[in-house]
Amino acid sequence: MTSPSPARSLFDPAVANDPYPFYAYLRREAPVAPLGLMDLWGIARHEDVLRVLRDPETFSSVVGQRRGDGEELPSMLFNDPPLHTRLRSLIAKAFTPRVVELQRESIAARSKQLVDAMLAKGDPDIVLDLAYPLPVMVIAHMLGVADGDHATFKRWSDAIIENVAPILLTGDDSALADVNQEFDAYFSKRLAKLRREPEDNLLSELVHVETDEGKLGELELLMFCRLLLVAGNETTTGLIVNATRALAEYPDVLQRVRGDLTLLPAAIEEALRYYAPFPATFRRTTREVEVGGATIPADTRVLVLLASANRDERAFEHPDEFRLDRGTNRHVAFGMGIHYCVGAPLARLEAEVALRDLLPRITGVSIVPGQAAALLRPGGPKSLRVTFTTP
Ligand code: HEM
Repeated sequence: MTSPSPARSLFDPAVANDPYPFYAYLRREAPVAPLGLMDLWGIARHEDVLRVLRDPETFSSVVGQRRGDGEELPSMLFNDPPLHTRLRSLIAKAFTPRVVELQRESIAARSKQLVDAMLAKGDPDIVLDLAYPLPVMVIAHMLGVADGDHATFKRWSDAIIENVAPILLTGDDSALADVNQEFDAYFSKRLAKLRREPEDNLLSELVHVETDEGKLGELELLMFCRLLLVAGNETTTGLIVNATRALAEYPDVLQRVRGDLTLLPAAIEEALRYYAPFPATFRRTTREVEVGGATIPADTRVLVLLASANRDERAFEHPDEFRLDRGTNRHVAFGMGIHYCVGAPLARLEAEVALRDLLPRITGVSIVPGQAAALLRPGGPKSLRVTFTTP
């Protein structure tokens, strides 16, 4: 029998529901190789993924997102030093533990409301009832969106999230032109108000933050608001859904964690490793380069397979088992190097608060069968019906 070809298999919808056997094949047979879609090469092993993410000079993050005039937009995620260094230093100064901690109370209140309502329903849906609305609310709160504007904000979030993958692949964001215009108009007004009257939220901190790098400009601020929706919403939804999915597959782990909630942080780290919510990220080579014995040509796009690295048998013992006792968990779910996820503490907090509410109130969870199509969707399911057993 011939081995599956990487070219067909990674993008074959049939493997998207469970890409892990295919990642294992890539790690074994083609750890650094073309994937057969456009100019994309895949990087599948933990060691090689670290090598790529730690070398931004050779592996650039400028992979898409151009203005009509071809100029790069000032988005932190899609830029290299020195622009990335400037944006990151300003943003890190505003995105502090204090600003994250400011969210705890409102996350807890909202999470409790959502969990109460979900458990009272006959047909709970872990995405629609909990994992999707929670992060959208948190980001709206951080940006100081008024309560009356939440429905509009959610509509923009939905549109932006829906279009992330095609925009990343093609660099063409014309499908979002109207939404971006509405979004920018709304937040330009908010920025003007915050300049006059500071508030206690992230956006206000960002408006006023100043370092040796100066201050953030209007377009930089608007791009960061958009980036938060792309980077912080669906990923966090994915973490809550994936953790639930893993606990459905490992009922013994669920029992241990609900019996001892101090195990929750370890369970969340393992969920991040086991089902990486942001399974891959892009880079572009700035020169011909050798990685893991293969030579990648210059100006080639590379798909850094974080989810595959997280199951690399060279880096993790029994990588296909969900274990609470991994000690230091060297997963790369939040990336590595200069672009390491700025929102990691917030994502961990959201997942912890939601699961701390949910787990003591259930004795078991299972995924309603027959929803493979939902799981296949890039970026995770839009809806996932579950059954809870309660004490
Ligand atoms: C479980 C949830 C999350 C996961 C798995 C995740 C994953 C990642 C990954 C892998 C990167 C690096 C991408 C790269 O190197 O190309 C990243 C960057 C980033 N993330 Fe997250 N993220 C999550 C939640 C969040 C949240 C809640 C926020 C903000 C509210 C956020 C904001 C960002 C930003 C701004 C960057 C860009 C950092 C930079 O370019 O320096 N993320 N995230």
